[in-house]
Formats: sequence, C-alpha cells, structure tokens
Amino acid sequence: MGVMTAIGQTAYYGTWFLKELLGIKRPLATTMIITYHCNLRCKHCQIADGLPMVPQPHSISYQAAVEEMQASYERGARVLFFEGGEPTSWRDGERTLRDLILAGREVGFFVTGYTTNGTNVLYPESDVISVSLDGPKEVHDAIRCEGVFDKLMANLQTIDHPNVFANMVVMPENQHLVRETAQIVKDNPHMNGLMLNFLTPPPESRVLSMEEKRRVVEEVIALKKEGYPILNSNKALHELLMEDYSERCPFWASEFVLPDRSKCYGCPMRGEACKRCGFNAVREYSLITRGNIATIMSMAGRFGLSTK
Ligand SMILES: C[S@@+](CC[C@H](N)C(=O)[O-])C[C@H]1O[C@@H](n2cnc3c(N)ncnc32)[C@H](O)[C@@H]1O
Ligand code: SF4
Repeated sequence: MGVMTAIGQTAYYGTWFLKELLGIKRPLATTMIITYHCNLRCKHCQIADGLPMVPQPHSISYQAAVEEMQASYERGARVLFFEGGEPTSWRDGERTLRDLILAGREVGFFVTGYTTNGTNVLYPESDVISVSLDGPKEVHDAIRCEGVFDKLMANLQTIDHPNVFANMVVMPENQHLVRETAQIVKDNPHMNGLMLNFLTPPPESRVLSMEEKRRVVEEVIALKKEGYPILNSNKALHELLMEDYSERCPFWASEFVLPDRSKCYGCPMRGEACKRCGFNAVREYSLITRGNIATIMSMAGRFGLSTK
C-alpha cells in the first residue's frame, strides 16, 4: 500500500470518528453472512445449516452480495468481513468466495477478511484471514470433527500471507489449554496472532463461570507479557469480564447482512445472548469508538488499513 493510500484511509477513519463524536453514527464495518452451509457441526455452534434456527435462504447470490456491498459502502462501511456457516463453502455457479473478496475490493473497501474452519481452500486475495483454532489437535478435533486440525495445518502450509490469525473460543473443554494453543500459533510461521473469545450462549453448558473467565484473562495477560502473539488488547480483555456488555455494544459501527438480505446492527443475536456476548471484537470496536488510543493503534494496522 502506498503512503498516500494509508494517509487517505487514516483520514477517513479520523473523519468518521469526529462525526461519531458529533452524533453522526455510521457503520464502519460490514459482516456478510454469505451462507449458513457448513461441512462441520461444531459442538459450540448454533449457526450452521441443519440446525432448526437457521432461516431460508441458506446463501446469498453473487449479484445480491455485490449490491449489498455497494449499499454498505455508501452507508460508510470500509471494512468487509465474510462469515457463515463456512464462507469457503459459498458458491454461486462458478463463483466462489474469491470472487466476493475481489468484488469487495472493487467496490472500494479498505480491508476484506473472512473467518474459516480452514478445511477448504484459503484465499490469499483477502487482506485478513481468521482461522478457527480451539486448541491442540485432540481438543480441536473433539469440538470440531476428527481430522480438522490436520487439515487446517496442511492448508496453512499452502499460503504465504502476512495477516492470518487464529480465533479461539474458550469453553470448558479448552480453558486449560490457552497456553498450549498460543504456543501452536507462536511456533507456526503461517499464523501471526491469536485472538481469544468467550462463548456467547447458546449453548449454556459451554459458558465459563466468571471465576473461570477471570483466570483465563489473567493467564492471557501473562502470556502477552511473555511475548506470545496475542491480539486482544489488555483493555478488551478486562472488558470481557463485564457481566452485561449490551450497553457498551457499538451496534451502529458494525452492520450485518444476512443471506436473505435483511440487515441488523450490532449482530443478529439479541436479548440474553447479547447481554452475555463473549466476542472480543465487540470490545475492540467499543474501545475504538470511545477513542482508546492503545486499541486504535493495535487494531489499525491489522484490521483497518489495506495491505495490498
Ligand atoms: C460461526 S463461525 C463461521 C466461520 C467458520 N465456519 C469457522 O468456524 O471459522 C465464526 C467463529 O464463531 C465462533 N463461534 C461459533 N459459535 C460460537 C458461540 N456460541 N460463541 C462464540 N463464538 C462462536 C467459531 O468458533 C468461529 O471461530
Ligand atoms: S465450522 Fe464454523 S459455522 Fe461450521 S459448525 Fe463449526 S463454528 Fe459453526
């Protein structure tokens, strides 16, 4: 990315922030759930198809996705994330996720990204790739499916990309394996960061107690001090321990587009689940909209500015 592009993008964010202070609330990021299809049935996930809560249609068309990207861009969003289901399972005829990533860039988004279980092809055209990693092989496969860990590691070997990070959801099965997971990321040259989240219910049975969460947060802060590549900002880690985060959710900054083209702000979860949100990204967004300099600095390079 050229210096002028970086200056232009930084200026855009600065203007967005000033407008936000003046009460002009516009989205900054768009998450498109492009499909509910998924090749896995992870124990902690209620999103994939086959589950009763998933509405029709299961996937958005290419044409509709591009129209929605343009509309989001016009509303102000500059960061575009593809989610699912499994985004790499998305198809429209011959078109794949790669075409959506390229379309997002064409529309003008500064940054494109997606989260994947890593069992399919990885698309290096994306500025950011988030791979789910819920622990060492044994526990990752117990949560996700036999063989998933090895497939993920093999696929990571196929790309040389500067911005691949691991996304871990901490739950009873892996709460004592955070250090081991951080070590896997540190030792793997194809990943350069680990972001930790707590589970957002349902399922209730996989939510940690506040005491357990506190212990995990203390461990993560210690790991950061030891030099492990943890992406959560310290402030966000502390805010993961707040009992009810719904009041702090910067819902206007983060819009969601669903496969049926419906939209919502914040995320599709509402009510109890929203109050007990365990997503770290929500804390980082919240801190950014509150002008927290340390968070802005740590997040901007990785998630805010073009890498191409
Ligand atoms: C819904 S998945 C979609 C992308 C892709 N299929 C994957 O597994 O990475 C996105 C992320 O949400 C996480 N996730 C699923 N259910 C969750 C829950 N109840 N609470 C918090 N995170 C959850 C997954 O582990 C994954 O890292
Ligand atoms: S791979 Fe992702 S979408 Fe599929 S079941 Fe697992 S967490 Fe859910």
